Amino acid sequence: MWKKIIFILALFILSVTAFDPPVENVIKALRSICTEKFLDDQCPYAIAYDIATQLTSQWYDHDGRYGLWSNILAKIWWQSGVGLWALAEFFNTMEGRATDKLYLATRWAAIETAKNRNNYVFTEYTDDQAWWANGALRLEQYIRSTGDATVELLKAAQIVINDNLKHETETCGGGIYWYHGFLRPFRTAKTTISNVLTMFTMATMFSFTHDATLLHGGIHGGAIDIYNWLLTSGLLNAQTGDQKDTLDTAHDNCTLVGGSLTYEYGVLVQALIALENATGHAQYISDAMIFIQNAIKKFTQNNIIYEKCDQTNTCQGDQLAFRGVFYQGLGRLYERTKDDRIANVIEASYLAMLSRKIGNHYPLSLINDNNNFTGYDQIIVTFGDLNLASAMIKVYKNKYVTSESKPNIDLAIHGLLPFDTTQQGLTGCVCVDDGCPREHEAQCFNNSGHKEPTNRDNWKSKISAILVAPGHQMMLFKSKGAGRSDWLQNSLWYVGDDFNKNIDAIDIDY
Ligand SMILES: *[C@@H]1O[C@H](CO)[C@@H](O)[C@H](O)[C@H]1NC(C)=O
Ligand SMILES: *[C@@H]1O[C@H](CO)[C@@H](O)[C@H](O)[C@H]1NC(C)=O
Ligand SMILES: *[C@@H]1O[C@H](CO)[C@@H](O)[C@H](O)[C@H]1NC(C)=O
Ligand SMILES: *[C@@H]1O[C@H](CO)[C@@H](O)[C@H](O)[C@H]1NC(C)=O
Repeated sequence: MWKKIIFILALFILSVTAFDPPVENVIKALRSICTEKFLDDQCPYAIAYDIATQLTSQWYDHDGRYGLWSNILAKIWWQSGVGLWALAEFFNTMEGRATDKLYLATRWAAIETAKNRNNYVFTEYTDDQAWWANGALRLEQYIRSTGDATVELLKAAQIVINDNLKHETETCGGGIYWYHGFLRPFRTAKTTISNVLTMFTMATMFSFTHDATLLHGGIHGGAIDIYNWLLTSGLLNAQTGDQKDTLDTAHDNCTLVGGSLTYEYGVLVQALIALENATGHAQYISDAMIFIQNAIKKFTQNNIIYEKCDQTNTCQGDQLAFRGVFYQGLGRLYERTKDDRIANVIEASYLAMLSRKIGNHYPLSLINDNNNFTGYDQIIVTFGDLNLASAMIKVYKNKYVTSESKPNIDLAIHGLLPFDTTQQGLTGCVCVDDGCPREHEAQCFNNSGHKEPTNRDNWKSKISAILVAPGHQMMLFKSKGAGRSDWLQNSLWYVGDDFNKNIDAIDIDY
């Protein structure tokens, strides 16, 4: 019953090429919105966008089967969850639709990963899947802020919550195990990281569902119960702001082992922010401030992050991922409290990052020359860079922007705005890089039917996204009759490999 008409795209593609702005143009436009301090080369909006673009252009596998940034083997699986969370925080921080190309691709990849990797429940570590769930939930918060919503991301996060709670026991008074496979002695560890991550997942899920058992009560307790257990077990001390890494449950001894790590603080303060948001209890923010002040004392020098490995120029992989999460926590807590001590760390670290830039890479080792990372390490460093740049945007917005000069990302990048889905009568749009030009109707069609790219390779080289208006649906065709998708229901945006590599034509219903 689908009316089919041939749609000649050649003219259309030619006509939109002029509107196709390269990444450099977006960066230039973003620089222009920094009017005080941090001008031009230091403008955090432009730096963060640059870093985010580097990350999304390094995706090996857009369907997320191997964790987005690793090829064939899921080499940096949990770290990819950290990366998803960093991108989600970036979108929330920018508050602009001009980042749509990155946002749409990220959203697509997060959903595909959930579909292809068992809703993120993939390894036997409760923390691994929680990184993904938390990235997904933070992304969903951004999606909701645009007036849109998904079901897939919440579903995946709830499955992670359910799985993590399966590994919570009464041994040593409560707490979630870090690992539940067959390797000993890991099986006896209840770690701070698994528990603070799950606190965040549950408290943030509450912001969507308002299910009170996510906070307290329920068979396995909720985010508040986990926090209380962390305090009574001694893993956290809210008076001193100290924390320990692990509670070893072997022989029911309940032994505290390991010192504290930057990322535990980074996640903890975000979990406390989510708890305060859910309950209205200011005490959680007071606690977060005690923890962060202790962490700043422990892990910085001259307001720049400084860990043991920095002394010997040996920071690698995990440590680099950890400190990026710390900056994410600093940024969120700054946003909530506007505390100058936190701002000082963010600013000093941000400037140190810029001063140590090598080529187009922003290094995260901020106090020495241990910055020559390649491959996966480089990607992990870049997640942290993005978190630091997003934190700097939050400081910039509050400290350097007057209300008259409030940056408007969307206006700055006028012409790159996404197509307005509320326009009447349109069923679909095809967009080139960086989003659909405003009022550029040639990109949209209000006649339903079959669209194909003529005999030129236009889909491959030009098209980055397809918008199907609410209430309509779309079918994708692979080249040379090699296959077709189902009707994709309730379609909004579709981006990624499907369009760039595989798809020859689409049908849109009416
Ligand atoms: C705080 O809660 C509200 C309502 O539950 C929600 O809309 C908002 O996204 C939450 N904010 C954060 C940062 O979790
Ligand atoms: C745990 O307790 C058992 C028995 O009480 C003891 O033999 C063992 O050494 C303890 N282990 C640790 C790590 O403290
Ligand atoms: C970075 O490391 C690679 C090999 O790991 C080496 O070939 C290259 O010269 C190094 N670059 C710098 C600037 O140190
Ligand atoms: C819809 O298509 C008709 C031609 O069929 C055209 O005249 C009209 O301008 C289009 N409307 C929009 C909003 O694109």
